[in-house]
Amino acid sequence: MAEYDLIIRNGRIVDGTGTAARDGSVAIRGDRIEAVGEVTGTATREIDARGMVIAPGFIDVHAHDDAAVVRDPRVDFKIMQGVTTDVVGNCGAGVAPANDQFRAAYQANFSGILGEIDLPWSTTAEYFKAVDEAHPACNVAAYIPHGVVRLNVMGMVRRDPTNAELDEMRRLVEDAMTAGAIGMSTGLIYPPGAFTKTEELVELAKVAAKHGGIYTSHIRNEGDHVMDAVGEAIEIGERAGCGVQISHHKSAGPGAIGLTKETLPFIAAARARGVEVTIDVYPYVASSSSLAAMWRIGRGAAFEHVRAIVASVKYNKEKYEGKYIHDIAAELDLPIGEAVEKVLADEENTPSVIMFVMDEADVRRVVEDEHCMVGSDGLPTEGKPHPRLYGTMPRVIQRYVREEGVLTLEEAVRKMTSLPAKKHRLGDRGMLEAGRYADVVVFDAETIADVATYAEPRQYPPGIAWVVVNGQVAVEGGAQTDARAGRMVVRG
Ligand code: ZN
Ligand code: CU
Repeated sequence: MAEYDLIIRNGRIVDGTGTAARDGSVAIRGDRIEAVGEVTGTATREIDARGMVIAPGFIDVHAHDDAAVVRDPRVDFKIMQGVTTDVVGNCGAGVAPANDQFRAAYQANFSGILGEIDLPWSTTAEYFKAVDEAHPACNVAAYIPHGVVRLNVMGMVRRDPTNAELDEMRRLVEDAMTAGAIGMSTGLIYPPGAFTKTEELVELAKVAAKHGGIYTSHIRNEGDHVMDAVGEAIEIGERAGCGVQISHHKSAGPGAIGLTKETLPFIAAARARGVEVTIDVYPYVASSSSLAAMWRIGRGAAFEHVRAIVASVKYNKEKYEGKYIHDIAAELDLPIGEAVEKVLADEENTPSVIMFVMDEADVRRVVEDEHCMVGSDGLPTEGKPHPRLYGTMPRVIQRYVREEGVLTLEEAVRKMTSLPAKKHRLGDRGMLEAGRYADVVVFDAETIADVATYAEPRQYPPGIAWVVVNGQVAVEGGAQTDARAGRMVVRG
């Protein structure tokens, strides 16, 4: 009888820790790695990885697949780019907990980011159970999203909570942390996050901190006030006593170009005095969000000056989808603002939008930062989503390792594996090491690439040959299998 279930033989092992690649094999039994390096013995199944890299499966620390992992558990766009663990509940947005008040608010507030879904669960624990029962192709870990908590308790009001409301919000965060959430996320440009003062966030982050969770934030400003907003996130972590993750770190929009030259040393200084602040990035110069949300927070004015594409719509695909807002306005013979309002009305507030607002030098500077992880911020919506949904992980290797040489392959893999696994307390994941979970990706470092485009985003990255999730082969010779071996990963 064979000793192992699976051996991936004769590849270049990049183990996720950042140490230099070495030749070797990986042996797996059940859902665990049993041996790495020289492997003797046989397996029921063997994969020849000659000429390829064997690495831990990638961890996408900034996903919006809360609904997708239940609605479309194959999550092909993730598994085909080598992602074996998806972190959801970001930006204060999510699908649980859900009472009737939240259900009624869901479509207008979150469908442009998460896509549409029924919300049959009530508690976070019930949602986690629904994820497990859906058997997604990749693992899922989750934040408790502050925007969801506030909508459940207070609805969409612009005021501070009463003591009773704050207590009720604490209870919902506590519930989620007990169920295994990895921390609390906020989206402070989106209502109701935008209605929330620092004080309330400190109080709720304390509950996450008590359970060893972190505070993760889409900060209040990523433009010319980005320094204040970074400062607020650090302050919340410091006062609540928890680690901080600044989501999709960037400086965006006119007036903010180059500001990452100031934010990164500022963040490093906080780390030096003991606050555990890390960041993540998606490697593109265009952002993407809900069109309704951007419009409501006054970004409509920016559409006059910024190139923006309507990415996904529900009804009038021919008329709107994949088109620049300027072109839509010209076709409708309307001013930009009125054109956006018409699109929103015709599409019941569901569209997402792509905005070209960043400078490549800022993106590169953030990618290179030693404490920066990779998070796609992919929006699993209909139509033509931002290509980051399909290509984020391959793009880091293609662009920053192979083309520009600003990262070593080992460093790029570390950013996508052990760094996030440690920070987010994902248990025995993120490294190729005996005893850890068998989440593995096998790719060709010379050909791995992001080929998704803004016009045609739904394209799988070439160069990824094999993906293994909890010991099950999820991608075989470059094609997705029927394996759906993902699990809900609770805080380790
Ligand atoms: Zn965000
Ligand atoms: Cu996000």
